[in-house]
Amino acid sequence: MSVTIEKTEILGWLREENPARLKELWQRADEIRRSRVGDAVHLRGLVEISNFCSRQCAYCGLRVGNENLARYRMDLNEILEAAQQAVSFGYGTVVLQGGEDYGIATLWMAEIIRRIKGETPLAVTLSLGERPDKDLAAWRKAGADRYLLRFETSDPNLFEEIHPPLGRRKFDRLAILRRLRGLGFEVGSGIMVGIPGQTYASVANDIALFRELDLDMIGIGPFIPHPGTPLGNGLRFFPSVNGEQVPNTELMVYKAVALTRLVRPDANIPATSALATINKANGRELGLQRGANVFMPNLTPLKYRHLYQIYPNKACIAETGDACNGCLSLRIKGLGRHIGRGQGGRKDRDLFAPERGSVSRSIPQTQSGTMIPGGFELTRPLRVTVPISDERSRRSILNPFSSHA
Ligand code: 5AD
Ligand code: FES
Repeated sequence: MSVTIEKTEILGWLREENPARLKELWQRADEIRRSRVGDAVHLRGLVEISNFCSRQCAYCGLRVGNENLARYRMDLNEILEAAQQAVSFGYGTVVLQGGEDYGIATLWMAEIIRRIKGETPLAVTLSLGERPDKDLAAWRKAGADRYLLRFETSDPNLFEEIHPPLGRRKFDRLAILRRLRGLGFEVGSGIMVGIPGQTYASVANDIALFRELDLDMIGIGPFIPHPGTPLGNGLRFFPSVNGEQVPNTELMVYKAVALTRLVRPDANIPATSALATINKANGRELGLQRGANVFMPNLTPLKYRHLYQIYPNKACIAETGDACNGCLSLRIKGLGRHIGRGQGGRKDRDLFAPERGSVSRSIPQTQSGTMIPGGFELTRPLRVTVPISDERSRRSILNPFSSHA
């Protein structure tokens, strides 16, 4: 029997408020996480290499229009030092993130990548915005392994509202994701939850899109208003969405994370820093218990840390890499999980080996090799393996509207 999690069911879960029902969702996401990606929590050392940005995103504190922010760009030695710190903490990956900063020259960045790949065993992940193809190709050639670019929302009108095009260049993030895949990168994307003007239906579409795109990493965090931005200073209002506005709450993020684990069982899903920011006490732990398997400790030198202000009150703003590392190890052990070894890439895993006691089902959808809206080509067979413990819990997870106590 073929069973799918339809978009209406995703929508039902996003609206579900009953704690007992939600507990079933958390448990199922946790079970699938364990059976498909295991108990390892992979750590990616995050280095925020530049807070310059050429864009005007209505949500982000790095936007070029925010004049109340001192700007910095790390130099080559600082970046290499941070990468060495990642090695010394035993991390398998360094993530080099920045605003869309064209002061980051193509060849300079390529040199940094080459040095890190030559001098360390690290996987290198880049998160540097919508760069032209020639930059992406040069960085891939230099040895970069992965690229992160969130599509933020699958609603094209909302996306254009919050992310104005740069001059006449009109970029389509899904097309960029497809090109990244074509270049051989492992590709990550994701969304913010609770953007003003974002509806429940649109988040359900986002999650369905995660299922369609063959993403290796999926990051989901709450939208956090930044007072230096049009979306955070109360000056910009979006058309009312008539009670359909999705809230930017912790709970809504957990629902989106758990559902994402159900639709993409083998993806690497971080408990995001934005989630840790809105619940500093245990947001990341709850994320890791409700579908996530990755965390990104911050290795940005302290003197720059407070300047990488995409949103305010960021978690771990004052802790050194060392303090963060110690704290995280304790938190992960506290969950009965362990820190992942090696690079922790999705390609390292045996993706579709079914578990004993599981039923493997094909999700009927676009055939491999055909194009889906947004121009993304599916390159791998899509299939979900859902361990089934009993009929009742299976029904409950797949149909939140089914009534049972
Ligand atoms: N609140 C939450 N997340 C944000 N990001 C940018 N600005 C904010 C904000 N105000 C996220 C975006 C971006 C990632 C690097 O940070 O999703 O892709
Ligand atoms: Fe940074 Fe705990 S994870 S201080």
